[in-house]
Amino acid sequence: MPERTPIIAGNWKMHRDHLEAIQLVQKLAYHLGEEDYEGQEIVVCPPFVALRSIQTLIQSDKLPIGLGAQTCHDEDEGAFTGEISAPMLARLDVRYVLCGHSERRAMFGETNEVVNRKLRAVQRHGMRPILCVGESLEQREGGDAVDVVVDQLRGSLDGISIADASELVVAYEPVWAIGTGRNATPQDAQEMCAAIRTEVGELYGAGTAEGLRVQYGGSVKPGNVRDLMGQPDIDGALVGGASLSSEDFALIVGHRRH
Ligand code: PGA
Repeated sequence: MPERTPIIAGNWKMHRDHLEAIQLVQKLAYHLGEEDYEGQEIVVCPPFVALRSIQTLIQSDKLPIGLGAQTCHDEDEGAFTGEISAPMLARLDVRYVLCGHSERRAMFGETNEVVNRKLRAVQRHGMRPILCVGESLEQREGGDAVDVVVDQLRGSLDGISIADASELVVAYEPVWAIGTGRNATPQDAQEMCAAIRTEVGELYGAGTAEGLRVQYGGSVKPGNVRDLMGQPDIDGALVGGASLSSEDFALIVGHRRH
C-alpha cells in the first residue's frame, strides 16, 4: 500500500486581514516544533488579500508551510468583476485550492459542474485541488449520505484524467458538523472516507484510490483530532474555526506528540 502523507489544512474563511494573518502564521510557527513538520503537510488557506503577505513570510522565514486559497474562478482571465483566477494564485506560490466548499455550494450557487470547471482550472495551473464533499443533516437522517457524497464526487470529477485525479485531495465535510461544534464520530467519518476511496477506486482504479488523501473536516479540535486521524481512511483534517487560534491549530498539527 502506498504511504499517504497526511495533510492538515486551516481554512480561515473570511477572517483575518493581512496584518493579522502575518501574526497568526508567525505565532503558529513559534508553537510548532521541527518534528511537527515531519511526515505530514501543513497548509494555511487565508483570504485572498493576505496571500501575498503570507507567501513572503513563508519564503523569508523558510517555513515548511504550504499556501492554499479558498476558491478561484474557472476562467484564466476576463470580464469577471471581483473574481480571482487560478494563474493569479499560481503566481503567488499557492499549492492548494479548496474547490466546492459547502459554504460556496450553499451560498454562491456552486454546482458540481462549476466545481468541475474549477478543478480543471486549478490543475491546469499546476496546483492541487482540495475537493470538498459532504451531506446535510437532512440527507444523513434520510439515509442518503453516501449517495449524496458519491454523486458530488462523480459530478465534480467528470472527465478528470487519472493523472489529475492522483493529485487530488478530497475533504469529507458533513455540512451539519461545520462550525457547529458537533463533529462526526470517528466511525462515521471513517465509514464515509472509506466509501469515498472505494468510489475513486471505481472511477480510477485501485492504485489511484490507495494513494488518494482524504481529509475529514467539521468541528475538528485539539481534543478530537487524534481519534479522527487514527482512522485508516482518514489522511488529514480540514480545520475551520480552530485554525484561527495559533495555539489550537498547533495542537491539532502536533497531535502526534500531545
Ligand atoms: P469548522 O469548519 O472546523 O469550523 O467546523 C470546517 C470547514 O468549514 O472547513
